[in-house]
Amino acid sequence: MQESGKNPQHIGIIMDGNGRWAKQRGLARKFGHREGAKAFQKIVEYCYDLGVPYLTFYAWSTENWARPKDEVDAVMNLLRDYLNRDLSKIRQQVRMRFIGDRGALPQDIQQKMAEIEEKTASFTRTTVNLAVNYGGRAEIAAAARRLAQQARDGALDPADIDEALISANIGTAGQPDPDIILRPSGEKRSSNFLLWQGAYAEMIYMDVLWPDFTPRHLDEALAEFSRRNRRFGGI
Ligand code: IPE
Ligand code: IPE
Ligand code: MG
Repeated sequence: MQESGKNPQHIGIIMDGNGRWAKQRGLARKFGHREGAKAFQKIVEYCYDLGVPYLTFYAWSTENWARPKDEVDAVMNLLRDYLNRDLSKIRQQVRMRFIGDRGALPQDIQQKMAEIEEKTASFTRTTVNLAVNYGGRAEIAAAARRLAQQARDGALDPADIDEALISANIGTAGQPDPDIILRPSGEKRSSNFLLWQGAYAEMIYMDVLWPDFTPRHLDEALAEFSRRNRRFGGI
């Protein structure tokens, strides 16, 4: 468990409201995703400047595959564009990680993800987890499967399965739990994001749509966080 410090060590962000942003402008939903990708870049840069150690951005859920094919394709193409950027031209030295079940993603995207994780592995100021084909329940189920297999192989005593071992077998292994889970767009639910890690996260909901989200909104969220009284079950 973490200290209730005022500087968050890890911020989770549910990038929601792209579709509504486009609809308000009479545009196809994919244009909202394109603007959302720009907001993502800006917020990563801003958090890097602030020195936030860990960020997790929810980009695509295990449930989002239910969307129309043209929208799925548009988001996968944006992801592809993002992964193909020339890293050497980017000012920030951000460590990139991808969480979620990448096995279901197009092969070229899986390959790029592995490459970028390797190329950015030595950067220490800010780690960005991009959650793609991510679901909190799927992540916990995958950890359960892995540990069960180890137990069956005789490498693990079931009595040794504790919270720390689960934490060590999910996408954010080795990282602090999120202090803040931030959801713009006006929706007030987790939608399967960081279910395990977010046990004591401060939930912050904001009425702005993600493509309109700016560093000022992040400042607002940080100010709100600093006013919260975290007790972690104590008094
Ligand atoms: C979030 O925006 C981005 C993804 C899920 C890919 P939405 O596409 O959910 O936008 P709304 O909620 O429909 O406005
Ligand atoms: C959560 O948003 C997933 C992402 C932002 C990637 P959704 O738009 O899919 O969530 P619901 O359907 O409103 O709960
Ligand atoms: Mg949504």
